[in-house]
Amino acid sequence: MSIKRAKISAVGHYLPEYRLTNFELEKMVDTNDEWIRTRTGISERRILKDPDKATAFMGAEAAKEALEEASVDPLEIDLVVLATVTPDYLFPATACLVQEMIGAKNAFAFDLSAACSGFLYALSTGASFIEAGNAKKVLVIGADKMSSILDYTDRNTCILFGDGAGAVILEESDDDTGIINSIHHTEGDTNCSLYQHAGGSLNPATAETVAARQHYITQDGRAVFKKATMGMADVSLEIMKKNNLTADDVDWLVPHQANLRIIEATANRMGVTSDKVMININKYGNTTAGTIPLCLYDWKNKLNKGDNLVLAAFGGGFTWGATYVKWSM
Ligand code: COA
Repeated sequence: MSIKRAKISAVGHYLPEYRLTNFELEKMVDTNDEWIRTRTGISERRILKDPDKATAFMGAEAAKEALEEASVDPLEIDLVVLATVTPDYLFPATACLVQEMIGAKNAFAFDLSAACSGFLYALSTGASFIEAGNAKKVLVIGADKMSSILDYTDRNTCILFGDGAGAVILEESDDDTGIINSIHHTEGDTNCSLYQHAGGSLNPATAETVAARQHYITQDGRAVFKKATMGMADVSLEIMKKNNLTADDVDWLVPHQANLRIIEATANRMGVTSDKVMININKYGNTTAGTIPLCLYDWKNKLNKGDNLVLAAFGGGFTWGATYVKWSM
């Protein structure tokens, strides 16, 4: 029996118009443009200002663009998987709202929470449904409105993140290109290095949790930086080894965009030169589940059929992983 393989057949994106620059942040917290650029690589990030719009809106816009590019009718979609840590509501799932917004009436839909690794976890999940023959067309979305959980008085976190979304359509591949395989890891973050403490069932929202600013991200930046640098580089080497890929075989590294120094360390460990690394953190900051599909979108006109892509991410959880994709378009 031949094994089915999923391929990416279209990429869409959504970025809010508003650009929050480092210079504007200088007026909000004790920071400066030079520090942010040299320590993170970020110059500006996009912010969704409209209070009536959130993650579902951005995910739906990205999905619509992908559907149009692939000339796929929304009614053909069997499954919508949406990765996010900033759902519109705790429930129902944001994926259900997107399903309705785009008219994918025949799809079932669910969210997946794996922070900055969310898109890679969702990509593997969507691909598995196609490989098993349980879906023909799957929409995989990474979307986050990080500004909704950022404390703009905390310089350790508010400079890092932005809002945005990316989406891909998965279909069955009819050649040797597509999503070849993935490696995923998890290590429970019992030290609370990267957390949103309140709002869940352990610490439901109260006047006290709001007053204590516990609905915002808190982070031990140094600890996360160390973990992320090791994790992303290790798993990228692991996926190269699993597929017998040398640095020369890798056409593109598609890294999660958390910090330029983490990206450079990963590329160095892999032996991949900087011209083969997708970097757009300078323009968008860390959009959590959005970073990898936003890279694919920005670079899609430079990609050729058969190109070897290594997608790699590390995020809260801790979660991390890498996926080997042979580009199909
Ligand atoms: N502007 C100016 N100074 C700042 C600052 C800011 N925005 N944020 C922190 N600093 C200061 C610190 O207070 C510290 O000062 P001190 O030495 O007087 O105590 C100094 O800069 C160095 O702080 P440190 O935390 O060691 O800096 P860093 O080089 O590790 O960079 C991060 C901080 C947050 C950019 C970095 O740790 C990082 O990117 N971590 C990973 C974050 C991440 O990726 N999270 C998402 C999950 S993937």
